[in-house]
Amino acid sequence: MTELSVFEAIHTARAMRRLKPDPVPDALITQVLDAAIRAPSAGNAQSWFFLAVRDAALRAELGRIYRKASDIAAASYAARGKPAHLTEAQFARMMSAGQYLWEHMGDAPVLLLPCLRPPPPPPYDSLPPAMQARYQDELDYMRRIRGASIYPAMQNIVLACRALGLGTVPTTNHLRCEAEVKALLGIPGDVETCALMPVGWPVGTFGPVARKPLAEVAFADRWGAGWPGR
Ligand SMILES: Cc1cc2nc3c(=O)[nH]c(=O)nc-3n(C[C@H](O)[C@H](O)[C@H](O)COP(=O)(O)O)c2cc1C
Repeated sequence: MTELSVFEAIHTARAMRRLKPDPVPDALITQVLDAAIRAPSAGNAQSWFFLAVRDAALRAELGRIYRKASDIAAASYAARGKPAHLTEAQFARMMSAGQYLWEHMGDAPVLLLPCLRPPPPPPYDSLPPAMQARYQDELDYMRRIRGASIYPAMQNIVLACRALGLGTVPTTNHLRCEAEVKALLGIPGDVETCALMPVGWPVGTFGPVARKPLAEVAFADRWGAGWPGR
């Protein structure tokens, strides 16, 4: 296999929802997971777990739950409508690929669940008075940054899959029925499932990833002052 540059991987790792049911060797999943655990996390806490579901019956059941959760999500997608920056064709492609996945999540040979056991807050009584006075702010801060300790690992999964020629996409619809997912897989109560990522050999081709232009979203020095490049 020829090695991809990291920039080529970033620019071509589009959401791959149409995946072949052909098996993926465990050794490749090990490489993907080993990339996931290289990600940064707040305080290097590494409070993460990664569940790789290969068992066909479990995948089918996860597919059923994803379908049910996506039916709930559909009303929210419909109400939000098309983001202004997407063309009608781009939006239609995303929606039809998304709906394909509603039916086929369980057909992917591997379903990865990046999970997090959020670290407990510092005990109130052990804090100095100044910190006790802003305890609620501190809890809000911890809640605010929680996902930031798993999302880099998820992106490493996306890029490692891309490097190996595997397709994947981060999905979160299942959270609407997370209790069923946790019961099915025996996930402890204090562990959160952060995503459900199908992994498999893609039917279509990778990239390029289209995004809003840099000029619209990147600023130089002050908010609103356009970044000079591209
Ligand atoms: C936090 C998050 C949640 C997502 N949830 C879903 C989902 O539930 N179902 C789905 O089909 N795609 C989901 N996606 C995939 C996005 O729709 C996709 O990344 C986006 O449309 C960009 O696709 P592209 O890289 O092919 O342009 C999710 C992505 C992120 C980052």
